[in-house]
Amino acid sequence: MAHTETNSGGLSRRDFLKVTGAVGAGMVLAPVILGEEAKNASKTVNVGFIGVGTQGRVLLTNALKIPNLRFVGVADIWPYNQGYAVRTLKKYNHPANGYIEYAEMLDKEKDIDAVIVATPDWKHAECTVAALKAGKHVYCEKEMSNDIALAKEMVVTSQQTKKLLQIGHQRRSNPRYQLAIDYMQKKNCCGMLTFLSAGWSRSKRLDVGWPKGQELDEAALKKYGYDTMARFRNWRWYKKFSGGPIADLGSHQIDIFNWALKASPAAVMAAGGCDFYEGIEWYDNISALYEWDNVDQGGKKHTVRGYYQLLSTSSHGGYSETFIGTDGSLIISENAGTGGMRREQEAAEADWEKELPKPSGPNAAPAAAPKVEEKKAETKDGAKKDADDDIKVGHSVPAPGRYFGPITVAGFNKSEHLPHIENFIAAIREGAALTCPGEVGYDTAVTVLKVNDAIVAAKRLEFKPEEFKA
Ligand SMILES: NC(=O)c1ccc[n+]([C@@H]2O[C@H](COP(=O)([O-])OP(=O)(O)OC[C@H]3O[C@@H](n4cnc5c(N)ncnc54)[C@H](O)[C@@H]3O)[C@@H](O)[C@H]2O)c1
Repeated sequence: MAHTETNSGGLSRRDFLKVTGAVGAGMVLAPVILGEEAKNASKTVNVGFIGVGTQGRVLLTNALKIPNLRFVGVADIWPYNQGYAVRTLKKYNHPANGYIEYAEMLDKEKDIDAVIVATPDWKHAECTVAALKAGKHVYCEKEMSNDIALAKEMVVTSQQTKKLLQIGHQRRSNPRYQLAIDYMQKKNCCGMLTFLSAGWSRSKRLDVGWPKGQELDEAALKKYGYDTMARFRNWRWYKKFSGGPIADLGSHQIDIFNWALKASPAAVMAAGGCDFYEGIEWYDNISALYEWDNVDQGGKKHTVRGYYQLLSTSSHGGYSETFIGTDGSLIISENAGTGGMRREQEAAEADWEKELPKPSGPNAAPAAAPKVEEKKAETKDGAKKDADDDIKVGHSVPAPGRYFGPITVAGFNKSEHLPHIENFIAAIREGAALTCPGEVGYDTAVTVLKVNDAIVAAKRLEFKPEEFKA
């Protein structure tokens, strides 16, 4: 279910024209499409928010850019964040009502069509299931849940209520990612994928703190399941509230592995520890190695391996995903300036290579890799030596091949979150296919959370195919 063609990332012609509307054929067809969209966009969708902290604000400010949304309610147990969101919406002429309890908002705001959930992960299922049962469509942030059984309940409830459930792996709606997947799956730019790797390095200040005088009192903290204000604010680092950094950061990128391979993994081994910070429960560094068996890439079926590295002690290397294959490699990141493509020297030159951007920026590989001379040079004493001997120590030697710049989509300059919310709203208004429905989010949650189990078990753990079925 999670790896059907609809969700496998190929840009539909229509989507492609939307993002490349300013060039080529798009110039002719775009007005027709825009006209159709303008009609559908006039359908008002009433929206409520549950959880408006850091990410809730990001989603709110992005959603404000979508025409004909009416923001009617905001629920957050922390009056400080709730008040900020309500005031922001008022500024943009949305007189939304503020609530402490999400249940009260769902009960009173009967005309809400869609709810955006951005609470800490452990509350995703409770809020999502309640909203779906109240007849609302739900956009819920990742990680879907830190508990697989609760994630399953979210999917089953969306199926039973026939309400939409979009999970916040926003790369799935990012035109640059869709194009990269298209290059790999349809244009075969890497040939047969043989190895994947990705990582996120973040030098994270552990205590996010809170403004003085804005503390929740002890009774409120207790009522909502947080023992202290510090844990309430730093929920990511505690097992009750979160799946840890592999869920927080890794889930975005490991999701892309499954997407590119159109498969769920067969096994994972991992190591990690809470080695550098004190007073937290989740691992501050993780190394994981996945195996996907029998990956069908249009010929013989192969095992593909993929490495994932997470560091919360350094920002070295940033965050990106790398796909390596027999004909080339592709690097992409949510940071649009990072990455690029390389085609092996021996790979036949494809027409689409002409459309690719030239290498640029600090991450670019050189346009032309130096040719390594085959013939032996003569030394003074007449002996032959390898050309490699001439390579100076300290110089990096680029692999031979044709290098290109980061994947770009003409005319696309939106924030990374907006297209994913737009996809959710388009699904409500005009029946567009969700790019990350609950079933896909579930597949990713199962894939990712097993890393924590593998660290505890200190051995290779296998996935059973039925584990991925919600
Ligand atoms: N897609 C992304 O790129 C991305 C980025 C950051 C965070 N996130 C996700 O967004 C979610 C929120 O993360 P954050 O960084 O904004 O955390 P945060 O702590 O800044 O915000 C969480 C908010 O939820 C509220 N809350 C807690 N319990 C609640 C409850 N029972 N009912 C209503 N509100 C409640 C808190 O008061 C707070 O305002 C997480 O699931 C996180 O994984 C996604």
